[in-house]
Amino acid sequence: MSRKNLNIGLFGFGVVGLGLYEVLQKTPALKANITNICVKDKNKDRAISADNFTFDKDDILNDPNINVVVELIDDADAAFEIVSAALKKGKAVVSANKKMVAEHFTELLQLQKEYNVPLLYEAAACASMPIIRNLEEYYDNDLLESIEGIVNGSTNYILTKTFAENLSYEQALKQAQDLGFAESNPILDTGGFDAKYKLLILLAHAFGYIAKPEDLFNIGINNIGDLELKYAKEKGLKIKLVAQAYKGTDGTLSAFVIPKFVTPDDRLYHVDDVFNGMITKTSFADTHFFVGRGAGSYPTASAVLSDISALSYDYRYEYKKIYREENLKLTDDVELKVLLRHKKEDSEALKLKFNTVEEAYTNHDSGYLTGNITLSNLKELEAGNTGGHSFILISVLSEKDATTPAFAIA
Ligand SMILES: NC(=O)c1ccc[n+]([C@@H]2O[C@H](COP(=O)([O-])OP(=O)(O)OC[C@H]3O[C@@H](n4cnc5c(N)ncnc54)[C@H](OP(=O)(O)O)[C@@H]3O)[C@@H](O)[C@H]2O)c1
Repeated sequence: MSRKNLNIGLFGFGVVGLGLYEVLQKTPALKANITNICVKDKNKDRAISADNFTFDKDDILNDPNINVVVELIDDADAAFEIVSAALKKGKAVVSANKKMVAEHFTELLQLQKEYNVPLLYEAAACASMPIIRNLEEYYDNDLLESIEGIVNGSTNYILTKTFAENLSYEQALKQAQDLGFAESNPILDTGGFDAKYKLLILLAHAFGYIAKPEDLFNIGINNIGDLELKYAKEKGLKIKLVAQAYKGTDGTLSAFVIPKFVTPDDRLYHVDDVFNGMITKTSFADTHFFVGRGAGSYPTASAVLSDISALSYDYRYEYKKIYREENLKLTDDVELKVLLRHKKEDSEALKLKFNTVEEAYTNHDSGYLTGNITLSNLKELEAGNTGGHSFILISVLSEKDATTPAFAIA
């Protein structure tokens, strides 16, 4: 099969856009040329000459010679406008924008169908780690039992630095931003929203389930305090922000993003810095483990490049699992073993929400307790959280085969 010639209209020339431009210069075998680049700021100095750029999106969208739009901008609303207009004009699209894909998943699916054009977004989930196409192509729905992983490079970088170099949360966040790993708006990363958008995309390709962002529960790393860090360090654990989904045998699916204590025998323990890692569990193959750089200019550009290459062979997602209509139901009826750090005076009221309490400790102003709680009770407590408490997952109890076993609390 011969490759198609691709004339690319590129939106965005930031960390990833510039990375893609450079990576494309080094891959001449791919017959793909950037014809025009649309950016926003007329006063910015650019790494290449000004005649490569336009500030009018229609210069790309209305150009009949451009057959591929690559959308690499940092504004999800503007990105949706651009991507939907491009699909309506019959142009294939590659995007790295997880927020845009997650917020408009159903509309984007419909547009691809109606205008018979592909939209690929491998870089939107786990950047360079090739997970979407693997979930889409390799795993058959009924074989895949769970996915569990670190899907956000910047929070993993921050947590790694906090543990390994004893940096404060603020110092580590600043480093991640300076290196181009963190989004312009850090709460998207640190609040677990970016991880949730990625989980939403992964759910569609892993289990054929289309969630809305508000359906999926997320806790980020922004409330993690010294007590939890000290607790982890004393027990030889690390804290990782983990996105996970389990398919029950009764047609249910549980999916959430929560910081988790991981033990040294967990493969995710060794996924540090800006790397992402994902464990897939299947009925017959046991587990697979994917790992790769989850952010950064060239690594992210490499996933975009892979999508561009796939388009040159007319690849598209078939969304087989979605169209199979298995009608999975999202459930909060899951029991989790957690550590809850809280203000001293809240201790007794919080205990009432737990099914069992294993360990409870308080000092003069704060304390923690460990025990089992349902996801629905945890959600209720978190909804009223004004920063006074934080949850760290120890293990998922309802899933008999959860990929990481609980560790013993001394
Ligand atoms: N950075 C990473 O490691 C990484 C990893 C995975 C996925 N992503 C995703 O990749 C995308 C790009 O991220 P980035 O880190 O490259 O962002 P960035 O460095 O902040 O660059 C954003 C670019 O978008 C342009 N832009 C913004 N609004 C625009 C508009 N309305 N029309 C045209 N251009 C517009 C900006 O133009 P100006 O240059 O004129 O300001 C800039 O060139 C985002 O969706 C992000 O979530 C990033």
